Amino acid sequence: MNTGLKDKVAIVGGSSRGLGKACAEALAREGAKVTICSRNMERLNETANELKNKYDVEILPVACDLSNYDDIKRLVNETISGFGRIDILVNNTGGPPPGGFLDHDDSNWEKAFQGLLMYVVRICREVIPYMKKQGWGRIINNTSFTVKEPADNLILSNVFRVGVISVAKTLSRQFAKDNITVNNVCPGRFDTERIHEILEQRSKSSGDSFEVEKNKIIENIPQGRMQKTQELADLVVFLASENASGITGTTIQVDGGMVKGLF
Ligand SMILES: NC(=O)c1ccc[n+]([C@@H]2O[C@H](COP(=O)([O-])OP(=O)(O)OC[C@H]3O[C@@H](n4cnc5c(N)ncnc54)[C@H](OP(=O)(O)O)[C@@H]3O)[C@@H](O)[C@H]2O)c1
Repeated sequence: MNTGLKDKVAIVGGSSRGLGKACAEALAREGAKVTICSRNMERLNETANELKNKYDVEILPVACDLSNYDDIKRLVNETISGFGRIDILVNNTGGPPPGGFLDHDDSNWEKAFQGLLMYVVRICREVIPYMKKQGWGRIINNTSFTVKEPADNLILSNVFRVGVISVAKTLSRQFAKDNITVNNVCPGRFDTERIHEILEQRSKSSGDSFEVEKNKIIENIPQGRMQKTQELADLVVFLASENASGITGTTIQVDGGMVKGLF
């Protein structure tokens, strides 16, 4: 498949590791120029060098906190200064802390609101004017399986990611005539550092080993395994490509069959 992504310019959020890094890598593999970002500059530079060496494309690392509007504006401005345009925006950041309804105070709710929902609102507000001017754009939000089936111990994810889906649906209709598509992807269970942290926490509170906790997750996945980060990234590449020009306002999970709902 010719994705037509050579020399397109992408910003990928939270991309020093995990799913964001896999998305940046898949876009770089297709020849796109990619701005990557995260809070830890050292780790970000390592990722930038790795991708540059592997794919011989331009990678721009920008250290920023995506919960902070000034940082978001700087990220967009540095991409425009460096590459002159923005074609693809992949929204992704760290997950909120786990917990049920009684576990979170106002401060946790506020942080999750800023980090998950306002980040997407603000960066879309900054980037869409460039896409409109170009008459072409792709926005892809990485959310979670929780938008299809709320998880018992992830109330902050359950609430704010559904807000992202609603923003995406609204934008997909408002900017359809500008050739801008807006879609969401939903990871099920991927073997990344975030999952390792969650499994370690579960193991501490249950007294069961890390491996036992991992198997409890795998038991609920019909494919009998966690997903590979490239499996999500390949969907992101497809949605970013010319081939996906008719697909907008959709929400697609990559979960090995885990979500039980029909839609
Ligand atoms: N892995 C899964 O199975 C799974 C399932 C469902 C949903 N998700 C969601 O998908 C997203 C990515 O997951 P992941 O497993 O790849 O997570 P991860 O391994 O924790 O990676 C998160 C990335 O985002 C960066 N980041 C975190 N907070 C940031 C901030 N405020 N500003 C800028 N960058 C930030 C991190 O770097 P720094 O810490 O250096 O900033 C890192 O590069 C998360 O929201 C997660 O909840 C993941």
